[in-house]
Amino acid sequence: MKTEYVVLEKEEEREVLKKAAEILKRGGLVAFPTETVYGLGGDGLNSDSSKKIYAAKGRPSDNPLILHVSEISEIKRLVSEIPRAAKILSEKFWPGPMTLIMKKSDLVPLETTGGLETVAIRIPENEIARKLIKEAECPIAAPSANISGRPSPTKGLHVKEDMDGRIEMIIDGGEVGIGLESTIIDVTGKIPMILRPGFITKKMLKELFPEIEEDETLKEPKNFEEMKPKAPGMKYKHYAPKGEMLIFEGSRKKVVEEINKEISRERKKGLVIAVLATEETKEKYVGADYVLSVGSYIEQNQIAHNLFRVLRSFDTLGAELIFSESFSEGELSEAIMNRLRKAAGYKIKRID
Ligand code: TXA
Ligand code: MG
Repeated sequence: MKTEYVVLEKEEEREVLKKAAEILKRGGLVAFPTETVYGLGGDGLNSDSSKKIYAAKGRPSDNPLILHVSEISEIKRLVSEIPRAAKILSEKFWPGPMTLIMKKSDLVPLETTGGLETVAIRIPENEIARKLIKEAECPIAAPSANISGRPSPTKGLHVKEDMDGRIEMIIDGGEVGIGLESTIIDVTGKIPMILRPGFITKKMLKELFPEIEEDETLKEPKNFEEMKPKAPGMKYKHYAPKGEMLIFEGSRKKVVEEINKEISRERKKGLVIAVLATEETKEKYVGADYVLSVGSYIEQNQIAHNLFRVLRSFDTLGAELIFSESFSEGELSEAIMNRLRKAAGYKIKRID
């Protein structure tokens, strides 16, 4: 299949979105930007489109998709009930980087929900995404537009790397703002439960629901084999660069020392060694082939924004061994470390 790659210019926007919407209506796939990461979209009410999404990503079919809608009023027909917590959360955080899990209606095919009786729904804030949904006149099922297991795409060209030849169209709307996927909250129970940490943080959610819960697997990350997270996608290895990655957790000074020791030990093997560092520490490494900064450690928004791009760069550079700093302070640390630990397949070295 030939993939049409369109860099969106304001003057051509209407025409391009119209064409993209027609592809979606016909059951085809279009990648588009959202404020979190790029999505790989198909008609969420068409089971064949959902099957195509799984095939294009190489994604296990038990890992459900998120339905993207442009207005709250479109949700009613997709769910069997709208719980009180959903109303409160949607008023506060939609449009935005939040996904809610509710009980699905019969309209939503099981292919879209990975066989579950619940459905994930999000109203994105990105204007291109919302215009596309409106034009397509259907909820758009969209996982992140990466090949399953790879870092989520934050630029149009990342999508091209993974999806060229697999889908009809890629809309390049520039770099995304946030860079981490939405916070997922299950509102089917009595008390809302966070299933995936994101830009909408636990602290923000606690202001509305002081009793809010968190999926067990987020509290104490363990090996993949032992975990049974409520969001099926959370159990898979994900975001991973091709090289072997090891995270160092501990005080910043000791982490730098320890990574340097590890570099000097490993150098003899002749592997390409890279370090994931910060603006503050990037000059402090000796002997690595590449040192990539994800930004300043006091600017967590920057780290979130850059993380997936940097993880992808390790592949471009041919890194075979990657040593990573960790980010334990600040409100976004949970979301950032959740992605980073997965990228490393939970290979973590604790110092102190
Ligand atoms: O920011 C985002 O959420 C991006 C953009 C494109 O909107 N999308 C995204 O989709 O991250 P994806 O497919 O990469 O991740 C969706 C996650 C998976 O972990 C999946 O298991 C979970 O949502 N999920 C979807 N439906 C669910 C359900 N009914 N119950 C529990 N988890 C669900
Ligand atoms: Mg994903």
